[in-house]
Order: sequence, then C-alpha cells, then structure tokens
Amino acid sequence: MGTGIISRRVYLSSFSWNTLGFSVAANILLPWKSHFGQLLTRTVHQEVNVIESKTPETDDQAVLYVHWPYCAKRCTYCNFNKYVSESVDHERMAQCLETETRTLLKLSGVKQINSIFFGGGTPSLALPSTIERVINTVRDKVTFKPGSEVTLEANPTKLETERLRDFKTVGVNRVSIGVQALNQNHLNLLGREHTVEQSISCVKKAGALFPGRVSVDVIFGRPKQTLEDWRIELHRVLSFCDDHISLYQLTLEAGTPLYRWVKEKQCELPDSDTMADLYSEAIQILGDHGFERYEVSNFARNGAQCSHNWAYWRGMQYIGVGPGAHGRFSIQDGGGPREARIQTPLPDTWMTEVENRGHGTRKSEPLSNQQRLEEMVILGLRTIEGIPSSRWNRLSRNQDLISVFGNSEKVRNMVENNLLYLDESGLRASSHGLMVLDSIIPHLLNVLEKNITVK
Ligand SMILES: C[S@@+](CC[C@H](N)C(=O)[O-])C[C@H]1O[C@@H](n2cnc3c(N)ncnc32)[C@H](O)[C@@H]1O
Ligand code: SF4
Repeated sequence: MGTGIISRRVYLSSFSWNTLGFSVAANILLPWKSHFGQLLTRTVHQEVNVIESKTPETDDQAVLYVHWPYCAKRCTYCNFNKYVSESVDHERMAQCLETETRTLLKLSGVKQINSIFFGGGTPSLALPSTIERVINTVRDKVTFKPGSEVTLEANPTKLETERLRDFKTVGVNRVSIGVQALNQNHLNLLGREHTVEQSISCVKKAGALFPGRVSVDVIFGRPKQTLEDWRIELHRVLSFCDDHISLYQLTLEAGTPLYRWVKEKQCELPDSDTMADLYSEAIQILGDHGFERYEVSNFARNGAQCSHNWAYWRGMQYIGVGPGAHGRFSIQDGGGPREARIQTPLPDTWMTEVENRGHGTRKSEPLSNQQRLEEMVILGLRTIEGIPSSRWNRLSRNQDLISVFGNSEKVRNMVENNLLYLDESGLRASSHGLMVLDSIIPHLLNVLEKNITVK
C-alpha cells in the first residue's frame, strides 16, 4: 500500500494484513451461506462480554506500534514490510526508533501511552536493549503506567526462545508467537524457519515467563488441510498454549511465492466452503476449551484479550513508529483533525530521513469524519462489542446509527436474518454475522456513503 489512507477499493478487495498497519488483522473471506428473507425490523442487543476499557477514548492518549522490519527469511505467503539483511545496523536502528518515537509523541501531544506493540518483521530479532530504549523513551516523555501492556511478536526459533527472558527483563510483558502450523510439511511450504518441536518448546517457555500473557498465531486454510487434520492440530495447540490464540485465514498476497504456486496450479487452497468449515470448527473447539471469540480472528480466556488491539478496533489513536508503520492520530494536543500517517517503508531510507528531520513520515493526510466512520464500521464490526452508539455519536452528532442504517432494506434484512443487531445501544454482528463479515461490510459502507450528511 502506498498510502496511509484506506481507500474503499483497498479494503473491499483485500482487507489485508498491513492495510491498516496492524500486526494482527486476520481476514475472514467467507461467502454468503445464507439467503435474506422477508423484510422486517428487529431490535435485539444481547449482552456481550468485552474487555473493560482501560483506554478511554481521548486524544490525550494513544497506543504505540513499533515496526521492526527485518526477518531471518521470507515466508512464502507474507507481503508485510520486511527485509532480509545480512548486516542489520542495530545501533543505528535503535537510535532512529528512539528519535522517531520522541518526535511523533511530541507532534501528537499525547500525555499518556496505554500500550506498546513491537511488531514486524520479526522484532524478536531486535536486541533487547533496542526494545528497552524505545520503552524508556516513552517513559521519559509521557505517562506510561506500570503494568501497561508491552507485546513483542516472536518467531519460535531456538535463538529467539533463548532470548525471551532478556525481553522480559527489559519490560516486555506479553508475547505473540508465530506458531502457524503443527504440521512440518506445512511449515516447510510456508517457508517458516522453525520446526514444530521448536514452536512447542518456545510457547511452553514463554508460558512460564509470561503466564496468562502468551498468544499464539495459527494459520488455517493451508493447501491440502483437511477438517480432520485441523481438529487434531487444534487439540494439540490447546494442549500447550496459554490463554490467547489468533487464527488467521491464509490470504493469497500478490507477489508472494505462494500466490504464484497457486496461480500456476502447483498447489491449491481449500475451497470457500471448506474454509468456512475450518473456521466454524475452530470456534467450536476453542469455545469448548473456554476461549471466547472476541474479534473475528482472536480468541481469549481468563481475561487475556489484547488491550492494544482493542485500541485499533475501537478507533482510538495509535502512533506508528518504524519503517512502513501506520498511525492514526491528531497533531498538537488533539486540536487538529485525526490524520492517517505512514512512515517510509525502506529501512535505509527511513533511517536517513529520521536522522535528517527527526521522523520518516512518508505521507500524512487528514481523515474526514466520513472516513473515520467507515473505519469504525470496518473495524468495530469485527469485534463482539460492535459499534456502541456512544462512540458513533461522538463523530456523527446529528445522525445516529439507526437513522443512518435503519431505513436500508438490506440492513433490515440482515437484522431480520440474525446477522446484525441494530438498536439504540449500537450496531454489531451476530455470531453468524462475524462468519460472513466480508459480505456484510460492503453493504454497510454503501448505506453509510448514501445516507451520511456530515462529510
Ligand atoms: C507479519 S507476522 C509478524 C510476526 C512474526 N514475524 C511471525 O511470522 O509470526 C504477523 C502474523 O501475520 C501472519 N501473516 C502474514 N501474512 C499472512 C497471510 N498472507 N495470511 C495469513 N497470515 C499471514 C503471520 O503468519 C503472523 O502470524
Ligand atoms: S517471519 Fe513473519 S514477518 Fe517475516 S516473512 Fe515470515 S510471516 Fe512475514
């Protein structure tokens, strides 16, 4: 993506991993499996269990995303902003991350950072001292309350497992481990650097160091994956995992080897019905083990939801530091409009820019209220919380959710078919609606575009 602004085209055709600069944003591209029936209105809003908001929605505060752009090897499916380099200049990177963190904190005028997420690339290949320097920069400049969430994405190689303790010592208190598969052939096809055994040992070690704060990433919808294999695999994951699991549907990204292999028919992804079955089965099995799906791809038990990602889904401010990082924040003490911002992707160019002018912002553009409402629909609806009216009304003072969506025949059909709940308290997808969100969202965006008066 060459822009920090999300364009309609981009998120409808490929709501992709890095469209929003998120480190975790699975796409579930499931087809309609239902048929809309009679037009009727309904107002049902069930109780949902969501994380208590630790991050009030104010422009005095934000969360911080830090991008480490290097990987040991390129996975065959990944088109994130990542580079393989023989000679990473760790000292220069650390200095530039510190500098850009300082600059963007100042520019945003935020008084408090609520969480930090080190994503990548592979940030577990960064030096622990680099991670520490970024955390300390935040502590020096703004309030960063003790115990605030600091997540590090880690690949489960032997080397990185051995460094987990050092990351803990410097302030990391949550890790997200890229397990991806417990089938060695699949790991090889995906181009992963670790073995199944290394993944298991890494997660176990992380569980001992960060009890209740370890997440595992697993990819489903792999070539030749069957429902029966998936069941066995999920039970195995459950036998050693901690309290958080992210399940990502394998997305074919143009330009990757996997994309080419599929186009050349050297391998084949499961069809969309099988994808839907794999996903449903996972919800069932994880649910049986106490995991609640709190977002399309994220499951937690014992209160282990990721508070950093909640900030994205709730449309709160985030500052993105590092090559290719995305941000959404207003400048100067919350006085200006919210801006979409993207940092220069190439690490060397980014470092030069940071050294010359304190930051490597490639592009920043003000977001209109309509764009912010669109993002609210796209992101908020991915969660079990949906879009509470209070949040919507802050941006759309004169048109509440019902006046925007309630008169649309399509939306009313979706409500009648138990895909959506719309009432005075808000708009959200039902459990079945979350399964087919990719088909629902375009309709909602069309209705929004037609009916919204404040641009
Ligand atoms: C970009 S990685 C960064 C963290 C770390 N390097 C890793 O591989 O786990 C974050 C997550 O995105 C997933 N991911 C990247 N591209 C994907 C794709 N095309 N389809 C599904 N998941 C993808 C990765 O597998 C990983 O779980
Ligand atoms: S290690 Fe992670 S970021 Fe790097 S190529 Fe693989 S999936 Fe992408």
